[in-house]
Amino acid sequence: MYCVRNVTEDLYWVGANDHRLHLFENIHPIPQGVSYNAYLLMDEETVLFDTVDWSACRQLIENLDYLLAGRSLDWLVINHVEPDHGASLEQILLRYPNVKIISTEKAFTFMRQFGFHPDTHECVIVKEGDTQSFGKHTVTFIAAPMVHWPEVMVTFDVTNGVLFSADAFGSFIALDGKLFADEVDFDRDWIDEARRYLTNIVGKYGTSIQSLLKKAGGILDQIKYICPLHGLVWREDLGYYFDKYDKWSRYEPEEKGVMIVYASMYGNTEAAAQALAAKLCEKGCTKVAVYDVSNTHVSYLISEAFKYSHIVLASVTYNLEIYPVMHDFLIDMKALNLQNRTFALIENGTWACKSGSLMKKFIEEELKNMTVLDEGLKIASSMNKDQETELNTLADALIDSVNK
Ligand code: FEO
Repeated sequence: MYCVRNVTEDLYWVGANDHRLHLFENIHPIPQGVSYNAYLLMDEETVLFDTVDWSACRQLIENLDYLLAGRSLDWLVINHVEPDHGASLEQILLRYPNVKIISTEKAFTFMRQFGFHPDTHECVIVKEGDTQSFGKHTVTFIAAPMVHWPEVMVTFDVTNGVLFSADAFGSFIALDGKLFADEVDFDRDWIDEARRYLTNIVGKYGTSIQSLLKKAGGILDQIKYICPLHGLVWREDLGYYFDKYDKWSRYEPEEKGVMIVYASMYGNTEAAAQALAAKLCEKGCTKVAVYDVSNTHVSYLISEAFKYSHIVLASVTYNLEIYPVMHDFLIDMKALNLQNRTFALIENGTWACKSGSLMKKFIEEELKNMTVLDEGLKIASSMNKDQETELNTLADALIDSVNK
């Protein structure tokens, strides 16, 4: 059965939702699913913007059959060839023998590498500033390398103001009938998954996002719709989402608050983390989020680290090292280029307590533009009430720093 939605007068969402995939990119949990968005323009010529993951190919074909109703598909624009969008390409080529493909030179190389056989059809290589008319609609192509792969471009329809933004402005969460951001409570139900998507998938490439935002900023007054390859279409309050993307890609925190992440084997480091959280809240700093590093997938930790201005790492010493899962979190922060945060450290060890000095070394030597507060806590096996003053001092230092 087809499942399509109208975006504008002659533009349709023809993508699909996926609730079966557990791990996006085989790494990131997606408990609320994901959508693969593709769009069909019914102009004098017909144009498909991107395809979908192979698992959703049948849905795409049914959607196209329904809307085309016997018309041919004339053009296929590939903004991003990664297989969650490009994998159904060959099937489209097989079904529509006259379709011409528009994409960047690098994208055609990648299509060949993946075995999608673009050369069975006419391949039109485009670069920044090139335009193409399909009848009423004229589009222009804008290079967006490393948002999220090097071949990426975005396409702007100058006729109706639609920006086909590839992975940019995307999100986890299946659409399930909704299409537009103004059909959901985005700030309540979607923002966390949008941030988790952006920070984990494209977080490393902040500069590339900034460069795309700059180009989009130049035509901001002309952009009426943002159509990403995952998640909701934006047609209202575009500035809200631009602002979020701007903050995330500049590695600026969204919230002045404290994220506390603990690594605890027998509950004692956890107890210290909870005691600190209580102190912060008691003193009026209630923007506090506490996570057990051992049972929270690192993609959620990364997302929260991008959200909050301050991060407390509380780790037991393990084999004279940082607890391995906490170490993994630090490595992920480095991989995703997180910057401009203030840290405080809590270390624990029954003998040869080393996790604090090792975490400090990692933060100062491996991460960029980070500050580590002098105030911290050292625990010998378990925290005792004699350390209440130290706890207060740490909480006060964090609050002072948050309020700066
Ligand atoms: Fe959704 Fe970079 O692919």
